[in-house]
Amino acid sequence: MRSAKLSVQKWQTGAARLAVLIIIVQALGLRAGWSQEPAQPRLDEEFTKQEKIYRSRGADVPRGYVTGRGLSDYAELLPTGFCDALGSLGSADRWLDIGAGEGQAILDYYAPEDAAAPAEKCTRSGAKARAVAMSIEDRRTDKWQQQAARLGNDRIRYLTGKSLRHYSVEELGKFQIITDVFGGFTYTADLSRFVDKVLSLLEIGGIFYTVAPGVHLENAKDKLGILYLTELEDAAGRPLKVCSWLKQAACAQVTCESKSDWKRPTELINIRKVCSGVSVPRLKLWEFGAGYPPARRFQLDP
Ligand SMILES: C[S@@+](CC[C@H](N)C(=O)[O-])C[C@H]1O[C@@H](n2cnc3c(N)ncnc32)[C@H](O)[C@@H]1O
Repeated sequence: MRSAKLSVQKWQTGAARLAVLIIIVQALGLRAGWSQEPAQPRLDEEFTKQEKIYRSRGADVPRGYVTGRGLSDYAELLPTGFCDALGSLGSADRWLDIGAGEGQAILDYYAPEDAAAPAEKCTRSGAKARAVAMSIEDRRTDKWQQQAARLGNDRIRYLTGKSLRHYSVEELGKFQIITDVFGGFTYTADLSRFVDKVLSLLEIGGIFYTVAPGVHLENAKDKLGILYLTELEDAAGRPLKVCSWLKQAACAQVTCESKSDWKRPTELINIRKVCSGVSVPRLKLWEFGAGYPPARRFQLDP
């Protein structure tokens, strides 16, 4: 046990450490150990490490912290129907990309007609929705600055300096489409409030498209040896799948596509807001291991 502990200490990131710990705890059937309160000093230490990842620049940015995915990557990583839905938006509609990094997906969407094939731009006609990129840290490139100057701030905006929870609905307005590709949904320490805020920002009929890597899948069996990144439990300590939890939300129609053959078991998640009385079952954070993405453990709050 002591040598196992020592080798665990050699892991480079808190995320890897926590993931290994989770496997050991599961293997030993130690779920009952959750009866204590989460260790706040340890959480704070991990949050500080996570901030350092956000603040990293140039050669200090960890290789696995990818911030430049383009629209074709989004089309591959998000649920079926995302590209068509984006293509069907008109010029008065709005698209919010939470955790946009460099905002490359929005740049691709707005690229001049001949610069990208239609499929890569998810557009059917010349009409484009107004797009808002959001990122905790400012990763705007020269390309972004030039495109924003060419189009004017009304068409593409970049919001930075704080996380989603610090914006009000009045400040941001409402959106027809919200996307999140390895952004807040994967990184937040307060998953239920995050989803609640996202849904409050959607127009009724609007859709949130996201991806959840390293989770227990709705429609596939768990495989041995997987390092899960996001783990949920119900109030009694029984395992809860992320899609089953989301399906308990009021006014949200949730569809999940389980990808069991991806590098990590991944759910592609589509949430349509169907009425205004949105309410998401609260989760409490129990563990957080900084990383890219971080490892998190939540429990349903009774
Ligand atoms: C790994 S990058 C992904 C960037 C981009 N989506 C891509 O795929 O290239 C993570 C992004 O999520 C942002 N992020 C993480 N948590 C967030 C939150 N709670 N609210 C807003 N942005 C968040 C980070 O600031 C960063 O822009």
